[in-house]
Amino acid sequence: SIQKSFVSRAQKRNQRSWTYVQPQASYKVAVLGAAGGIGQPLALLVKMSPLVSALNLYDVANVKGVAADLSHCNTPSQVSNFTGDKELASCLKGVNVVVIPAGVPRKPGMTRDDLFNINASIVRSLVEAVADNCPDAFIHIISNPVNSTVPIAAEILKQKGVYDPKKLFGVTTLDVVRANTFVAQKKNLRLIDVDVPVIGGHAGITILPLLSKTKPSVTFTDEEVQELTVRIQNAGTEVVEAKAGAGSATLSMAYAAARFVESSLRAFDGDSDVYECSYVQSEVTELPFFASRIKLGREGVEAVVKSDLEGFTKYEEKALEALKPELKASIEKGINFVHKQP
Ligand code: NAD
Ligand code: LMR
Repeated sequence: SIQKSFVSRAQKRNQRSWTYVQPQASYKVAVLGAAGGIGQPLALLVKMSPLVSALNLYDVANVKGVAADLSHCNTPSQVSNFTGDKELASCLKGVNVVVIPAGVPRKPGMTRDDLFNINASIVRSLVEAVADNCPDAFIHIISNPVNSTVPIAAEILKQKGVYDPKKLFGVTTLDVVRANTFVAQKKNLRLIDVDVPVIGGHAGITILPLLSKTKPSVTFTDEEVQELTVRIQNAGTEVVEAKAGAGSATLSMAYAAARFVESSLRAFDGDSDVYECSYVQSEVTELPFFASRIKLGREGVEAVVKSDLEGFTKYEEKALEALKPELKASIEKGINFVHKQP
């Protein structure tokens, strides 16, 4: 019948793509906060990855439906849902990458630091479970304020005796995604070619795009540098204001987080050419954590890209010095939070 021949053609096509295109799906990814604004589209994008064999979704609410929905997509990964403290351990067992977007988002008028009181405790308890159940996993922290939640995670992992600084990442990919988009628009460049490293942290003036290091090489007037830098630094707020109380960036964040997951999995898989900016433990400045471009390998951070950090413009030098006190205070706030707990 027509239907039968259609099916067999489709099967042949699938077989072809399985044989020639489909890489081995073998990595396990967990998303904690998977039913949220970021969690849902992130889970969808990770579900599309040919490198993922298991996608474990955890949330305190509504995750069952998200998982049922996603599980119908005919891509390789097996989707499972977990909810409540008791199921967190099984969600995390054997996982290679844990992504954490759990927590509350900003409303207009708030800074990311205003989220500290709620999100610090959420990140603390989730990272405790990660330490107990998959201490070797790459940990991607999205929950804000990233400048503090990453130091919190590090202190928790240290307390548990399993801290590997090469495997703990603050996700700052969205800053790079925005910088690339805004620069390409401003200078009429092909988006696919543009790459702007963004260093420092992930809040306000701690976000420092290194426009002088833009690839392809491009020149900016002083006014353009000022305008683009401020736009990149305030891009999160731009979305918070446009959403007018309904949250912060979720779709562009999911896109950026999925890129960072895919990069991590490619590195796991032996690709020796994987570079991303991320907020990690660092010796680049006197601050213990700092975002800059890193090379990713099987064991996590393999190297820091030094060339980005040489030959700053006067503007970048000044901006770097200006961001340090705020970033330092946010790091200390995170560390103190862990040590002041009973
Ligand atoms: P959201 O409120 O839509 O979703 C958060 C989800 O976390 C909810 O489903 C909630 O049930 C869940 N959750 C809360 N406590 C939890 C816990 N203990 N365990 C598991 N899940 C829990 O918020 P969102 O828009 O998805 O944003 C999430 C976080 O990401 C916010 O803190 C936001 O500021 C941050 N964020 C970071 C970046 C970045 O660039 N790093 C970008 C955008 C948003
Ligand atoms: C962002 O940069 O979009 C996120 O950090 C969310 C926010 O609060 O701005």
